[in-house]
Amino acid sequence: EKGGYEHYMRKEIHEQPVALRQTLSGRIDIERGDADLDVSFPQGYLESLEEIQLVACGTSYYASLYAARLLEQFADVRTTVEIASEYTFDGGRDPWRTLVIAVTQSGETADTLGAIRRAGGAGARTLAVTNTLGSSVTRETEDSLFIRAGPEIGVAATKTFASQVTTLALLAVEIGRKRGTLAATDARAVLENLRELPGAVQQVLDEEARVLEGAERFVDADAFFFVGRQFGYPVALEGALKLKEIAYDHAEGFAAGELKHGPLALVTGETPVLSVLTEGARPGETLNNVTEAQTRAAPAIGVTDGTVETDSLDLALEVSEIGHMTPLVANIYFQLFAYHIADLQGRSIDKPRNLAKSVTVE
Ligand code: M6R
Repeated sequence: EKGGYEHYMRKEIHEQPVALRQTLSGRIDIERGDADLDVSFPQGYLESLEEIQLVACGTSYYASLYAARLLEQFADVRTTVEIASEYTFDGGRDPWRTLVIAVTQSGETADTLGAIRRAGGAGARTLAVTNTLGSSVTRETEDSLFIRAGPEIGVAATKTFASQVTTLALLAVEIGRKRGTLAATDARAVLENLRELPGAVQQVLDEEARVLEGAERFVDADAFFFVGRQFGYPVALEGALKLKEIAYDHAEGFAAGELKHGPLALVTGETPVLSVLTEGARPGETLNNVTEAQTRAAPAIGVTDGTVETDSLDLALEVSEIGHMTPLVANIYFQLFAYHIADLQGRSIDKPRNLAKSVTVE
């Protein structure tokens, strides 16, 4: 059932083009320049929305950080993201005008269920974004939106991250169109980028041998630092989480600009720095931060779409530029990198120590 793959995680990484096509299927209306999602908000609700709050844990939290930027840009609505276990609802005088979205692959995460229950109880409107039909979260919320990634067995979330961001990107388009903050031509450009996403992901998967070479070079490193800006920041956080989870190596994700405010003290010749150097991630500024790390002898691995000159990197990995979605494509390299670092060390990739696929205690 692993379809010839040694691990579910690698199978699920490779399933992403198919999963993303499912996520997008029937939901793009290029002619109207709109998304067509199977969730119906009450008449006039989205227009009068005052705030969106996303609540989630782990990888779903990082997907939410990515999506929040899209929601703010397209829908011009204040959007906050909170770790579910830290969440308290403060909806002001009219809580219903706040849409609280629980983002959860399994739909069973206790922290996320607790958060959405608190929001619903206080009078907010609630929406579940999940991979699992009939899961607990769908019984706690007014509406549900399915990410359609297909079952994910590996404890490390991979294809569901991409499908979560993609589903929320469609939602951001729909809300932006309803509110009149996103013009049809701009929406069309976003939708075209989404249509190109599965192909761009496939191109990365075709480069897996280069990632393996990189992993072989750096497998003995002391620690791994991931840096990015803008949409590249949640991708850096997610890249580091994958490596921690399955390789048990020390890894941290930073906003690239923060390196010089402290973490740079940790940088040595034994700490590779992985970066997102693409559209949507301020590649020029990020490259400057990477260069600072290289000056302290750190090896540099960067994902590039050709926007900046990357000759100075120790390893440059290429992606196609697809606007706001480019950093999401860069993330596929980080998934493959974590997988191969873990595999070279013989780790229990699909069932890492101490972790469970769905965390049903608070
Ligand atoms: O099922 P959920 O999306 O609610 O799960 C949230 C986290 O437990 C989950 O993303 C976890 O961080 C993964 N193991 C990450 O790979």
